[in-house]
Amino acid sequence: MAQINPSILSADFARLADEAEAVRGSDWLHVDVMDNHFVPNLTLGVPIVESLARATDIPLDLHLMIEDPDRWAPQYVEAGAGSVTFHVEAAAAPVRLAREIRAKGARASMALKPGTPIEPYEDLLPELDMLLIMTVEPGFGGQAFLDIMLPKIRRTRELIAKHDLELWLQVDGGVSASTIERCAEAGADVFVAGSAVYGAEDPAEAVRKLRDLADRASADAWWACGH
Ligand code: DX5
Ligand code: ZN
Repeated sequence: MAQINPSILSADFARLADEAEAVRGSDWLHVDVMDNHFVPNLTLGVPIVESLARATDIPLDLHLMIEDPDRWAPQYVEAGAGSVTFHVEAAAAPVRLAREIRAKGARASMALKPGTPIEPYEDLLPELDMLLIMTVEPGFGGQAFLDIMLPKIRRTRELIAKHDLELWLQVDGGVSASTIERCAEAGADVFVAGSAVYGAEDPAEAVRKLRDLADRASADAWWACGH
């Protein structure tokens, strides 16, 4: 079944516990950490993640858009994250970092910006629990979905099948009721949605609707048959 991870980037930052409650039934809560260096925007850090982890039962899916994740990512596991994603463009030693995240007890995930190809990282995939393909340039919510990322999603799904990996494939950026089916058909199974969830009248209902659309779209896809 498709997983939907609402992004709190589009939520009210003064009411994060309530905003987590508003998406009860979600698989994960997506938390975007930005440092104003790796991306031209600044959000939140370890203390807020610690508080949020205490305030909600929904596991936290951390997306680190920061320089030097080798240094900072382990602290987000200690802060209570269930999954930590670092950007390969910023990591000095991605294999060592993924192993450290796993050893500390979280799922390890690696993200690719739109201009970063998957092919050089084929041999790293067994070290990861999830791969994130950005479908916008990271930094801001509410941007238009980049259709040109669909072939990369497809090629990544083929690599996962080729190596018979238990790797989740996440997409993030511009995912909505009008784009999620294309992502699911191409091979994504974890969907981040910010404005499409928190911009909706009923966020929990928006999550259910997105999950339903993704499940239907992937039901007949070659990569999901027999799942
Ligand atoms: C963008 C962030 C996303 C953002 C997505 O850099 O990584 O998680 O919240 O927002 P939407 O779904 O509105 O594109
Ligand atoms: Zn994100």
